[in-house]
Amino acid sequence: LRVAALASGRGSNLAALIAARLPVEFVLVGSDKASAGALSVAADAGIPTVFLDPRDYATRSDFDRALFGRVAEAGADLLVLAGFMRIIDASVVADWEGRAINVHPSLLPKYRGLHTHRRCLEAGDAEHGASVHFVTAELDGGPVVAQARIAVHADDTEASLAARLLVEEHRLLPAVVAAIASHRLRWDGQPVFDGVPLA
Ligand code: GRF
Repeated sequence: LRVAALASGRGSNLAALIAARLPVEFVLVGSDKASAGALSVAADAGIPTVFLDPRDYATRSDFDRALFGRVAEAGADLLVLAGFMRIIDASVVADWEGRAINVHPSLLPKYRGLHTHRRCLEAGDAEHGASVHFVTAELDGGPVVAQARIAVHADDTEASLAARLLVEEHRLLPAVVAAIASHRLRWDGQPVFDGVPLA
């Protein structure tokens, strides 16, 4: 399985994915941020990288076409969004239907978008979690294929919750990529695991 990843931030999920030593080939890591830690993580692992600056493109859709075009040129079978903090043009997403996954720090469908840890605390939730889902045009709205849960502690802060959840993300994302690499998880108009459609 040829895997590409897009990331905007420090790249700890990417690092976990690489460290999991899955039977995959990382063909490209791309970013919209020149300073993204994910680019150094990739370079250190000998993975080709690309940074494109959104400011160099007239429209969001031009930028998305350019960046996702590079991913396609790299020959990726699977695109992993690992902290890629941009809303992606719907027509570009459509080209990747069933071939792109995203890790999101909430128990989707709860808390799409930003500040998930804060929103979880503000809501007084007893548990928090992370989700991996197939990417659709709806932000953080595609079908969920796996989740990890943690208990919220009385003294939790946004930072403590984020840190505890990150450990789970680092297990969850490689597990899903492993399932795709082994063909246990596939896309047939919807996610199918071991032949059973995931509702
Ligand atoms: C993770 O919490 C991910 O779920 C969210 O952004 C964070 C990225 O962290 N979308 P990292 O760049 O993988 O360290």
